[in-house]
Amino acid sequence: MATNLANQLNNTHISGHEEEDWKKTLNLPTKDLRPQTTDVTNTKGNNFEDYFLKRPLLMGIFEMGFERPSPIQEESIPIALTGRDILARAKNGTGKTAAFTIPVLEKINVNKNNIQALLLVPTRELALQTAQVCKNLGKHMNVQVMVTTGGTTLKDDILRLGQTVHIVVATPGRILDLAGKGIADLSQCQTLVMDEADKLLSPEFQPIIEQLISFLAPQRQILLYSATFPMIVKAFKDKFLTKPYEINLMDQLTLKGITQYYAYVEERQKVHCLNTLFSKLQINQSIIFCNSTSRVELLARKITELGYSCFYIHAKMLQSHRNRVFHDFRSGKTRHLVCSDLLTRGIDIQAVNVVVNFDFPKNAETYLHRIGRSGRFGHLGLAINLITYEDRYNLYRIEQELGTEIKAIPPVIDKSLYVAP
Ligand SMILES: Nc1ncnc2c1ncn2[C@@H]1O[C@H](COP(=O)(O)OP(=O)(O)OP(=O)(O)O)[C@@H](O)[C@H]1O
Ligand SMILES: [Mg+2]
Repeated sequence: MATNLANQLNNTHISGHEEEDWKKTLNLPTKDLRPQTTDVTNTKGNNFEDYFLKRPLLMGIFEMGFERPSPIQEESIPIALTGRDILARAKNGTGKTAAFTIPVLEKINVNKNNIQALLLVPTRELALQTAQVCKNLGKHMNVQVMVTTGGTTLKDDILRLGQTVHIVVATPGRILDLAGKGIADLSQCQTLVMDEADKLLSPEFQPIIEQLISFLAPQRQILLYSATFPMIVKAFKDKFLTKPYEINLMDQLTLKGITQYYAYVEERQKVHCLNTLFSKLQINQSIIFCNSTSRVELLARKITELGYSCFYIHAKMLQSHRNRVFHDFRSGKTRHLVCSDLLTRGIDIQAVNVVVNFDFPKNAETYLHRIGRSGRFGHLGLAINLITYEDRYNLYRIEQELGTEIKAIPPVIDKSLYVAP
């Protein structure tokens, strides 16, 4: 018994040394020292090492600058690793992407030459972003990640699928097309992740999703993630998920780091009001939402005329143009981005500290996801809503539905509310 314990201690000692050695070789990013809210700090105190992940994967995690798992990651990673179906709800920007990509990567056998996981998302931009997260986390794993979405040449996808692909990140239409034509073989695909699951279960996507499931391995695991789960999800859950493990980390819906204001305006005063906001606020980067593509273009033109640099993006633009705008905004080439609901969900740009609803959204889910583009990973953010007479009931209703308070905008907004010290 005593020898056993001694041996064990000895082994721990050795692996302790080894651990330090590989950790020394890591290429860590500069630490983000901005304060964080309890939305991401309120954890059980797990470490990524507690999950017995492959060393190359751990290296990728640490090299992303992740020091310890966020609350949703603590809940999701160990359960997903057991193979159980999951329905997980957690606030915007609290790390849901890694909550599913880490277990997905852990389970990939890179020596096998087949598609083992399918990650579905509702927009092309989110597909690109999610694939990048997979590639970054899996950087030391030799894992092959492919993005496939509409708006690109089918031929390129066919060529790519001729080579090894382990993980496919996709929007639903294109991958169904490829699976239906027998070009993408999903028969060995054991894991299906649906990010922004409620959006993927909206009427435009639901039939495609159901068809896609029929191409997967029969013993597949299905993982659903979102910050919002309206009732429509229940029917799908009952039909396709087996004893799902349900996670709900949203005792409250809005993020603690985001302060929300409304400004009561007439439609024709909106641009003037925005101009005032630009001159008074300390905007690091901002996303400005409009309710239609034509209004996006119109507003972007007005903002440019006012002398501010801004880009715009919406779904009716050419994909190559969309990609360029998305990439350039992400790398900070412009301060302001005007957009439609194309970027409402999942988009993660840490530099965004202000979101403006130039047009107020119609439903609470859209509102929550839009304002969640700021205040990423427990940081501070500001959401400003321009409210017209017609919006007044919507404002009241959304406040009620989200159990949150949207205050009238004060003459001066305290910088400490949305600018990191
Ligand atoms: N454990 C971690 N430590 C530090 N940063 C993290 C950690 N996990 C995730 N992040 C960072 O937090 C940010 C938000 O993560 P992510 O995009 O996954 O949020 P989300 O929950 O999917 O939000 P949304 O609901 O808006 O899609 C990302 O920039 C990500 O790199
Ligand atoms: Mg997300």
